[in-house]
Amino acid sequence: MKIALINGSPKHKNSASGILASLVKRLAKEKCECAEIKMNQTEPTAESVAVLRECDAWIIFYPLYVDGVPSHLLSCLKFLENCKETFDIKRIYAVSNCGFHDGQQCEWSLEVISHWSRHMGFDFCGGIGLGGGGAVPEVYATPAGEAITSNYTKAMKKMIGKVLEQKSFENFYASINLPRFIFKLAAERGWGRSLVKNGKKRSDIGHIPQ
Ligand SMILES: Cc1cc2nc3c(=O)[nH]c(=O)nc-3n(C[C@H](O)[C@H](O)[C@H](O)COP(=O)(O)O)c2cc1C
Repeated sequence: MKIALINGSPKHKNSASGILASLVKRLAKEKCECAEIKMNQTEPTAESVAVLRECDAWIIFYPLYVDGVPSHLLSCLKFLENCKETFDIKRIYAVSNCGFHDGQQCEWSLEVISHWSRHMGFDFCGGIGLGGGGAVPEVYATPAGEAITSNYTKAMKKMIGKVLEQKSFENFYASINLPRFIFKLAAERGWGRSLVKNGKKRSDIGHIPQ
């Protein structure tokens, strides 16, 4: 079995989506062949489309943008619609990660991927919404990273099991392994640091440009 791991983050490096795709590749090693594909532009490359054609299942990893699917990724999906008759039926899985603590925020964007799959004549086989994704690139390589992202790892293992069995699952949601109030404090400290780095004061956090 060959699986496409589609990284739908527009970031060139250090995205939560990319980290999750690499994690799945590591966990699925020796059980199947994985092809990593970047969709960080408004059109997939011809090479990517050729690899997608060879894969039995696609896992689309993407960040939640304004409660939806990022526009460059929608544009790539639209591009694939234009050549949908050149694909066999694929099994589609989706992993959305968001900045808020609650993975449930991703629910409607998973619906978008599910509708698109049906429109393509593909089988949507399940989606996962992950909260606290913005922290993943910050903590992943730290000593505490494994513990903080353990719910993510569990979710990826469950999904890989279903992908390999060629089965579906009901959409489900998980969050980073930190209490919401600590996550919020850490995120606000991060915003404060970004403000200072960009020549503003921490107290400017609520500033509304006129
Ligand atoms: C333009 C933009 C819109 C966003 N909209 C949301 C949103 O509606 N809800 C949310 O929880 N996070 C939102 N985020 C945060 C991202 O989903 C979050 O940082 C995510 O972890 C980025 O994933 P990536 O590293 O895979 O790109 C937004 C980020 C950006 C840049």
